[in-house]
Amino acid sequence: MYSLRLVLAALLSTAVARLTCDVKNLGGGQDDGPNILAAFKRCAKNGRITLDKYYVVDTLLLTDGLDDVEIDLSGTLQYTPDIAKWSPQSLFLTYQNATTFWFLSGNNIHLYGGGTIDGNGQVWWDTFNNTHNAGTAGGSSTTFARPIPLTVGNASNVLVENITQIGSPFWVRFVYQSTNITYKNINISTVSYSSSPTANSDGWDIYRSSFVTIQDSTVNNDDDCVSFKPNSTNILVNNMHCNGSHGISVGSLGQYAGETDIVANVSVKDIVMNNAQNGARIKVFGGSPNPNSTAGGGTGFVQNVTFENFHVTNVANPILIDQCYSTDPDICAEFPSTVTISDVHYINITGTSSGSEGTVVVDIECSAQCTNITATGTNLSSPDGNATFVCKNIQSVDQLDFNCDASSS
Ligand SMILES: *[C@@H]1O[C@H](CO)[C@@H](O)[C@H](O)[C@H]1NC(C)=O
Ligand SMILES: *[C@@H]1O[C@H](CO)[C@@H](O)[C@H](O)[C@H]1NC(C)=O
Ligand SMILES: *[C@@H]1O[C@H](CO)[C@@H](O)[C@H](O)[C@H]1NC(C)=O
Ligand SMILES: *[C@@H]1O[C@H](CO)[C@@H](O)[C@H](O)[C@H]1NC(C)=O
Ligand SMILES: *[C@@H]1O[C@H](CO)[C@@H](O)[C@H](O)[C@H]1NC(C)=O
Ligand SMILES: *[C@@H]1O[C@H](CO)[C@@H](O)[C@H](O)[C@H]1NC(C)=O
Ligand SMILES: *[C@@H]1O[C@H](CO)[C@@H](O)[C@H](O)[C@H]1NC(C)=O
Ligand SMILES: *[C@@H]1O[C@H](CO)[C@@H](O)[C@H](O)[C@H]1NC(C)=O
Ligand SMILES: *[C@@H]1O[C@H](CO)[C@@H](O)[C@H](O)[C@H]1NC(C)=O
Ligand SMILES: *[C@@H]1O[C@H](CO)[C@@H](O)[C@H](O)[C@H]1NC(C)=O
Ligand SMILES: *[C@@H]1O[C@H](CO)[C@@H](O)[C@H](O)[C@H]1NC(C)=O
Ligand SMILES: *[C@@H]1O[C@H](CO)[C@@H](O)[C@H](O)[C@H]1NC(C)=O
Repeated sequence: MYSLRLVLAALLSTAVARLTCDVKNLGGGQDDGPNILAAFKRCAKNGRITLDKYYVVDTLLLTDGLDDVEIDLSGTLQYTPDIAKWSPQSLFLTYQNATTFWFLSGNNIHLYGGGTIDGNGQVWWDTFNNTHNAGTAGGSSTTFARPIPLTVGNASNVLVENITQIGSPFWVRFVYQSTNITYKNINISTVSYSSSPTANSDGWDIYRSSFVTIQDSTVNNDDDCVSFKPNSTNILVNNMHCNGSHGISVGSLGQYAGETDIVANVSVKDIVMNNAQNGARIKVFGGSPNPNSTAGGGTGFVQNVTFENFHVTNVANPILIDQCYSTDPDICAEFPSTVTISDVHYINITGTSSGSEGTVVVDIECSAQCTNITATGTNLSSPDGNATFVCKNIQSVDQLDFNCDASSS
């Protein structure tokens, strides 16, 4: 009886003990990818994978089917800048021809450890600068892909924290067809050391995902700090420091006729935005007479989006709504956007523009009427004189705490 209880206890403790997989590195520039994949396979259920060395990765990391896995990345994972090899082998995703080096997928995953993911972006940026060989949106083809260093895809209940990412060839992080994904204390930096600019270095892109939280992070890049692509819902972005970016952006949406794009229930709060093209931005294509259009004409909506406690310095467009994005103004006037925009709230947006738009600090222009757009606590100035505010087709101008330029309405 007594010994049976002991045996049972021993069995139980074995059942709950985590499998551990420590990944050695080969050194000498050899590909550590196969060993990393083997560790993910062995520790795919209830496991802990330790990555505490410097790893060279030249093999696609398709780590899926994970279930209750801890990944302790305290070392550095560096992808090879081997364009000929990666272009055909990186994993093709179904949005804007994006591809990825690492597709992290499954349920209950915790990635942490203070380590670094190095995308070795310089070679890609230089090649892109000189060939412009790329698919739509600078995306990929099988001869020149620029893979995303970390995609959390087809995943649920994931926490990623304390990770640094440098030198991404393309978007830095992609949240793809996933739910309940949290990022905390992430440091992203994409800096080019040649005359080639970094290209498409979005900090985060969210697509077909819900309940995503991004907080306490810094992004130093040259494209969107965070971008909400089609079907991003219930998103919180909190306590971020963005430098050099294109802002925190909804969209672009409505690019493809016949498709429905939704961005709803988004809260963006406590943001410091410096030296950027935009602050709080919403970009939506205009309509189109062509039922097969790939440059506007899609349907959908943007609803319930709040930008709160935003401080901007040297930002060209602190507040921007463009419902005619990349659309010919005449076409847009005749065919207004069929992606509606409503319930957008700007609370306590302060700071100074760059002056590159003259005295304009707010530019909210809708092609179809936008409803329930409100602003309180706005305190934005321009280095060029008294700030001006451009509003077009905004139904709720009385709910804005600034005076729209008389000529705009
Ligand atoms: C993908 O790339 C191909 C070839 O460059 C292009 O024809 C196609 O439109 C792109 N698709 C998307 C969805 O971007
Ligand atoms: C992600 O899920 C979709 C839909 O279930 C599936 O078609 C696709 O193959 C999955 N992608 C990967 C890389 O597992
Ligand atoms: C979301 O995921 C976290 C793990 O990151 C988990 O602790 C939490 O319970 C999940 N929330 C829901 C509602 O499932
Ligand atoms: C992440 O970093 C913070 C701050 O350094 C630390 O308090 C926390 O314990 C770390 N989390 C993990 C899981 O290591
Ligand atoms: C982020 O990383 C960059 C480059 O590795 C470093 O220079 C910077 O100090 C880091 N910032 C924070 C807030 O940790
Ligand atoms: C990037 O392209 C520009 C313009 O074509 C060119 O002047 C420059 O030399 C290129 N930079 C590099 C590093 O190749
Ligand atoms: C977005 O969600 C709507 C509603 O579920 C769906 O009809 C549409 O196809 C989705 N769009 C994309 C791009 O996934
Ligand atoms: C608006 O979005 C926020 C943030 O996701 C959410 O907390 C709130 O419940 C939403 N409001 C409505 C009316 O859905
Ligand atoms: C749209 O595409 C469909 C299917 O490819 C084709 O039958 C139709 O003629 C196209 N319509 C226009 C206006 O191009
Ligand atoms: C407005 O936002 C700033 C940060 O940008 C914050 O310090 C301040 O407390 C906020 N004011 C209110 C009334 O919330
Ligand atoms: C405006 O939006 C807020 C929340 O997003 C909502 O509570 C309110 O009812 C809306 N007002 C109108 C007039 O639609
Ligand atoms: C700014 O506005 C003030 C008060 O309306 C006015 O006196 C001043 O001339 C304006 N300055 C410029 C540069 O337009």
